[in-house]
Amino acid sequence: MDQRVADFLEELYADGRAHDAVLEDRLARRRNVEPDTARLLSLLIRAKGARDVLELGTSNGYSTLWLAEAVGATGGRVVSIDVEEDRTLQAAANLARAGLRDAVELRTGDAAELLRASPDGAWDLIFLDAERPAYVAYWPDLVRVLRPSGLLAVDNVLSHADQVADFRATVEADPRVSWALAPTGAGALLAVRG
Ligand SMILES: C[S@@+](CC[C@H](N)C(=O)[O-])C[C@H]1O[C@@H](n2cnc3c(N)ncnc32)[C@H](O)[C@@H]1O
Repeated sequence: MDQRVADFLEELYADGRAHDAVLEDRLARRRNVEPDTARLLSLLIRAKGARDVLELGTSNGYSTLWLAEAVGATGGRVVSIDVEEDRTLQAAANLARAGLRDAVELRTGDAAELLRASPDGAWDLIFLDAERPAYVAYWPDLVRVLRPSGLLAVDNVLSHADQVADFRATVEADPRVSWALAPTGAGALLAVRG
């Protein structure tokens, strides 16, 4: 990774931690993914040669930067969506500062609608990092829009195990996918279609 991008990622993550530490309101926090998990996603994109990457839950673009940097190695692109417009704007500014703005299409809207509108098999890799109670309802579309051998990564499955218990049970019982739990950061559930 370019040292300038690596330095900016480090700065952005530290800034996010400081920002979140003083906020009572969980929804006002940035809740950036831990660097270990972001690094794993970057590796998986490279290993798969993933070109069509979808992120559900942009926040200020910390994880988006990691994804954008990784698709630079595969010739791919990232679509990232957040329901809050001010977050989309923050992400746009951060991506531009890192020189990665062109690799990402940022959208403001509901993840469920984007999934519903995605054609079958549209995505090589999906990073799901939004509001956990909605995940079970996303599942039929998540499986449908993953390409064969496509990979879904879901953050916070260890840090918020109770909130994703139903989702995990749904994924783990579905014969269309293989899954594994990566205990990096807040815990990432990985599921591959096929
Ligand atoms: C945990 S944060 C994402 C952190 C980000 N992936 C990162 O690592 O930097 C969750 C984000 O999901 C967004 N969100 C919540 N519900 C959503 C929905 N239904 N559709 C799209 N985004 C949503 C929130 O506004 C918030 O910015």
